[in-house]
Amino acid sequence: MSGSAILVACAALPESDGDEHAVPEALADLGFKSRWAAWDDTTVDFGAADIVILRATWDYAERRDEFLSWAESVPALSNSAEVVRWNTDKSYLAELGDAGVSVVPTTLIAPDEKAPRWPKGEFVLKPAVGAGSRGAGRFEAGDEAASHLAGLQADGNTVLLQPYQSSVDSEGELALVFFGGVYSHAFSKAAMLGRELDESGLYVTEKLAPVQPSAAFRALAEDTLDATAALLGILRAELLYARVDLVTGPDGRPSLLELELVEPSLGFRQTDASAAWRFASAVRQQLA
Ligand SMILES: Nc1ncnc2c1ncn2[C@@H]1O[C@H](COP(=O)(O)OP(=O)(O)O)[C@@H](O)[C@H]1O
Ligand SMILES: [Mg+2]
Repeated sequence: MSGSAILVACAALPESDGDEHAVPEALADLGFKSRWAAWDDTTVDFGAADIVILRATWDYAERRDEFLSWAESVPALSNSAEVVRWNTDKSYLAELGDAGVSVVPTTLIAPDEKAPRWPKGEFVLKPAVGAGSRGAGRFEAGDEAASHLAGLQADGNTVLLQPYQSSVDSEGELALVFFGGVYSHAFSKAAMLGRELDESGLYVTEKLAPVQPSAAFRALAEDTLDATAALLGILRAELLYARVDLVTGPDGRPSLLELELVEPSLGFRQTDASAAWRFASAVRQQLA
C-alpha cells in the first residue's frame, strides 16, 4: 500500500509546533508521502489526498461553522467531519456523563441564560466551543465571574461551569493517547489557567511530562472511548487518534475533563520513538 497524506494545521502555525517531527518519516517508511497544509488554504486540493489528518487546527474556535463546512467537504478526513462536529462543542461532556462516564461535574449555561447561583469554592468558566485554554478562567463567586460569563455569552457562547479541580495544581491533567482505538502512551500536563498565551495567540503553552497512568485512569479512558463510539455509532478503530484528558476528582477517583478528537497535541516528544510508528500503522489501518 502507498498513498498520500496531508497533515492539517493552521495559517499561524502551518507545520504545527514540531511535536509531530517524526510522523512524516514514519509515514514515508510505510509508503505515504505527506505534506503539511493549513485547513483554510484554498490553493490546496484536500480531495486529492488519500487521507487528510487533522493535527493543529487551533484557530477553528472563532470560525467553527466555516471549519465544519470545510471538514464536511473533505472526503478522507480523519477524524471524520461527524466526529469533529460532535467533539468541537464541549456539551458532549453531558452526553458522556449521561452514558455513565465519570465526568467532571459540568453545568451548561446558554448564551441567553442568566448567571446561576455560584457554587461554593473555586470554579471554572469556559466556552463550550474553545481550544488552547482560550476564554477559560478560574474564579470565586463575585463580579469578576459574572463579567467573564457575560462576556462569553455576549459573544454567543454557551458556557461550561465546573468546580475547579485542585488536583490539576499538584499532579496536573493526565492525557492518555490512543491510535486507531488502541492505547499508545500518556503524559501529564501542568495547570493551564493563569498562564500566558503563546506568541501565536492561539494557545497557552503546555508544560508536559511523560507518565505511566494507573489502572483506574486507563480504565476510565477505555470507558470514555467505548461510550463515544456507541454515541456516534462508529467503531473505536475508526478514531485515528484520541486523547482522553483525566483529572483526579476530590473523591480520589479519576474523572474526565476533556476528550480531544480534533486538534490535540499528541505528546510524541513525551514518549518512545515508536509512537510515530504506531501512528503511521493506525493511518494504514484507516485505509485498509
Ligand atoms: N474544572 C477545571 N478544574 C481545573 N482546571 C481546569 C478545569 N477546566 C479547565 N481547566 C484548565 O484549563 C485548561 C483548558 O480547559 P479544557 O477544558 O482542557 O479546554 P481546552 O483545552 O479545549 O481549551 C485545562 O487544561 C486545565 O488546566
Ligand atoms: Mg484541554
